[in-house]
Order: sequence, then structure tokens, then C-alpha cells
Amino acid sequence: MFANRVITRGFASSVASLAPKVAVVGAAGGIGQPLSLLLKLNPHVGRLALYDLVNTPGVAADLSHINTQSSVKGYKGPEQLEDALKGSDIIVVPAGVPRKPGMTRDDLFKINAGIVKGIAEAAVKVAPNAHILVISNPVNSTVPIVAEVFKKAGIFNPKRIFGVTTLDVVRASTFVTTLKGGDATKTPVHVIGGHSGVTIIPLLSQTGINFAKEEVDALTHRIQFGGDEVVKAKEGLGSATLSMAHAGARFTDSLLRALAGAKGIVEPSYVYSEIGAKHGVEYFATNVELGPEGVAKVHPIGPINAYEEQLLKAAIPELQANIKKGVDFVHQG
Ligand code: NAD
Ligand code: LMR
Repeated sequence: MFANRVITRGFASSVASLAPKVAVVGAAGGIGQPLSLLLKLNPHVGRLALYDLVNTPGVAADLSHINTQSSVKGYKGPEQLEDALKGSDIIVVPAGVPRKPGMTRDDLFKINAGIVKGIAEAAVKVAPNAHILVISNPVNSTVPIVAEVFKKAGIFNPKRIFGVTTLDVVRASTFVTTLKGGDATKTPVHVIGGHSGVTIIPLLSQTGINFAKEEVDALTHRIQFGGDEVVKAKEGLGSATLSMAHAGARFTDSLLRALAGAKGIVEPSYVYSEIGAKHGVEYFATNVELGPEGVAKVHPIGPINAYEEQLLKAAIPELQANIKKGVDFVHQG
């Protein structure tokens, strides 16, 4: 269900329509701009609020000329953050610094943890019912940061905080079909765990495709370190932006449709999870069924083979450390 229902009239129609508000925080960045474009093209978005420290008036003016039904407004600088978030149904967060070659996602914690915490604190004040979609890295830690800020305020709702791991399954489908043939759009790959290196666990055994041992090794490595391919190719100019914008727009679209009542929508996401708890972690990515309240059902891992058991075993200590780092940050700061 949408947090804030507002009735507006689209200029192309005299029929009143619901107008969900989506805020993008970091909207002028490498992900933020193409993501905002894709959201401007999405018919389920009613109002688009674009927030960044810089350049959002220009990005908003530009997008506002596109003849789709949503309105677009730019907000710039900390004094406009609360206005940007106020009344949002969904807040998508690609704010913060990206990696350069040689860095891990955890190296971004120093800068991005404080950025994400500040955004979560503003959301607590003015959009306590919003669904928060965290893209900023390290996702394994930034999702717990958002959750702890909401817990501190006494309004934590585990159904409404998501780490966006869609890019991992987008890549996995591409890499598997590049190697084995087939239609990438019709070859889903379940990827569980978290969103960094060994915490990314592709469950190739669940695809029903036969792989040789060397193919499993190569694909697993490529899916786990797909982000590094892009970081290396961009030679210091950042990490994945365009594929991430696609992945973020896909997840936002799925959530918008589920909030509006569509059934059977399943996306992977890193969420507060009882499935994770069984493996010793509070947050864990698996397929999640989306519904009118956000998370409707966290799906189980499903059957996994001995190889994938080993991947899971290797992921858990790193995930535990990443989660603890995020939780501690909120309570120390
Ligand atoms: P970028 O530097 O191009 O853009 C980031 C934007 O955030 C900039 O416009 C900057 O002004 C803005 N920003 C900084 N501090 C802010 C604040 N306090 N409030 C609002 N905006 C702020 O970086 P990018 O390539 O767009 O990447 C953004 C983040 O997304 C990085 O942390 C990156 O690692 C992460 N990322 C995640 C995934 C994923 O799969 N989850 C994929 C790619 C990138
Ligand atoms: C990705 O997977 O592309 C992102 O997490 C960005 C990165 O740092 O690799």
C-alpha cells in the first residue's frame, strides 16, 4: 500500500489517478541520472523528487520536458533534503562515492556510512512509512545502518528496507547465457547472500542447466566479481552506473506494482531475514515476494549442492562482520 496517497489528474487524461511519490537521493550522480530518466519513463511513478548536493535543478528541468505523466522536482543541498523526502512512498538511495580500481566496497564505508545514516535520519522524520531502497555501497553494511536508525527511532519495519542486489541477478543471467547460450531475459539465476565478492552466492545448480566443474568455477567467480570488471574498465572513473540504473529501475518498478496490488512479484533483495538468521546473519539476500506492505515473503534458499554449501560457509563470516560494522556505526556515532 502506498504510504501517501495523493489524487492528481494526468494531463493526458481526465481520469483521476493515484500518484506514488518516488525520491531519488544522489540523483545527479552516475547512477542517479539514468535511474531518474528510467523512473520518469515509468507510468507507475506519479511524482519524482530528485535530491543531491549538486546539479539537481538542471537534471530535474531536463527530465521535466519528457511528456510522461509524472511531475519532476529538483532539490539541492541539505536544507532541502527533508522537503525532497517528505511524503515519499519509495526512497531510492544511490548517494555516495563509488569504487576506484584496487578498492573493495568496504573501503567506501568511511564516507558512505555517514551519508546513508544522514539520509535515513531525515526519512525517519518526514517519511517514516517510506520503502527505502539502498544502492549505496557497501550494501552489506548500509542496509543495517538504515535499519538501526529506524530501530533507534522505534519505527523499524523490516518489510520496508531493501538492499538492492538486482544487479547481481541481471549479471548472472547475462554471464550464464553468454557461456551456454539461451535468452538472458528468460534465464533467471538465484543469487543469495550479500553484495560483495565472496558474499555473492550464485546458485547455478537451481538453473537446471548442466555445467562442467570449470564452468561453475568461472561463472561463480565472474558473478561474484562482476562489479570489478566494470571498475577496472572505467579506469578510475567509477563503477557500474548504467547497468545499475537498469537494475534499480527494475526493482523500483516491481515494488511500485506490488504496492498497487499486483501479485506474484518476486525480486532478489538483501533484507532483514529469518532465513539469514538460520545461518547466523540478520540480513541476507534471497528471492523476496513483494506485496502491498513491501516484503510479503522472504523465500527460502532452496536446494543447494555441496559446492554452494562451501560458498555459503565462506560468505557468512564476512557478512557477519559487515553487518556488525553497520550496526556499531549507528550506535557509536
Ligand atoms: P557518483 O559519484 O557518480 O554519484 C553519487 C552521487 O551522490 C553524486 O551526485 C553526489 O553528489 C551524491 N551525494 C554524495 N553525498 C550525498 C549526500 N549526502 N546526499 C545526497 N547525495 C549525495 O556515484 P555512482 O556511480 O552513482 O555510485 C553511487 C553509489 O552506488 C556508490 O556507493 C556505488 O558503490 C554504489 N553502487 C551500488 C550498486 C549495487 O549493486 N547496489 C551498483 C553500482 C554502484
Ligand atoms: C557493482 O556491483 O557493480 C557495484 O556494487 C559497484 C562496485 O563497486 O562494484
